Amino acid sequence: MLFDFVKIGAQGDGGTLFLPKQASTLAANQDALFYFIYYLCLFFFVLIVGLMIVFVVKGRHKGDGSPVKTSAVKGNHTLEVVWSVIPGILMVVIFGWGFKDWVKTVVTPANAIDVRVTGLKWAWSFDYVASGVNSNRLVVPQGQPVRLTMSSKDVIHSFYVPAFRVKRDVLPGRYTVMWFEATELGEFSVLCTEYCGTSHSGMLSTVKVVPQEEYEQWLADGGDLGGAGVPPAELGAKLYEAKGCNACHSLDGSAKIGPSFKGLYERNGEFVDGKSYVADDTYIRQSILEPQAHIVKGYQPVMPSYQGQLNDKQIAAIIDYIKTLK
Ligand code: CUA
Repeated sequence: MLFDFVKIGAQGDGGTLFLPKQASTLAANQDALFYFIYYLCLFFFVLIVGLMIVFVVKGRHKGDGSPVKTSAVKGNHTLEVVWSVIPGILMVVIFGWGFKDWVKTVVTPANAIDVRVTGLKWAWSFDYVASGVNSNRLVVPQGQPVRLTMSSKDVIHSFYVPAFRVKRDVLPGRYTVMWFEATELGEFSVLCTEYCGTSHSGMLSTVKVVPQEEYEQWLADGGDLGGAGVPPAELGAKLYEAKGCNACHSLDGSAKIGPSFKGLYERNGEFVDGKSYVADDTYIRQSILEPQAHIVKGYQPVMPSYQGQLNDKQIAAIIDYIKTLK
């Protein structure tokens, strides 16, 4: 590229000072427009500030005792036409270029893989429509378009993959759609870019781009959570990460937004209303499905319900996992 110096302080492998590596078919176009606008602004900034300095120096008071005079300003039609028409043309070019790229980002190619994305406080969940696999990270094949149909369980989130140059709001009660086609193998960050509460900054995931055969194998293995053969406590440990329990519940006994899972099973405690409880299976199940029913003393009623997010088998697996955390 012409301006290779901007790669100094690059954002990881193959990135530039301003932008991360280009890892989707949409990235190169968007970056070209970004740099066009950037260097256009830089050019006019240098021109205008340069001329200001020239005129300040040229027009400064001589300090020889002569009276201070300002020049009379008369109209200059040629100048006015030039500084209106040139920016006007540039605006139209930027609009046309941006519109052309925007159309590309909203029209999904016909052969796309369908994935449903659910945003919830504070995790991402991905459901592969054709295979029924659920995962807490995206695994996609290189060189094939993927369509994301997204919605939120609670508040407004925003799904952003910087390396793919795609970002769209994820809303409760309706669907938003976007697509990408990954061109590079590797793992890329997924961020939430709409402030959504306490653990907004921890609402992270990854997109792993793999060769086609590896993608098919991953689906056949039932994704990260595995198929029917996974022992319950092991499945519980995976769900702890996948469903975002880890955002609020520690494993080392330290209090985060919610009580720690360490030593939770059969723990005795007190609710805010003064009643005591024993953390048995029924208590944990209710805490997951109806978290507002009882609030443990010292904590806020902030946990969202996992009704519809976890089936009975998964809830039992989480209980079995908590039992192992002595
Ligand atoms: Cu979800 Cu910020």
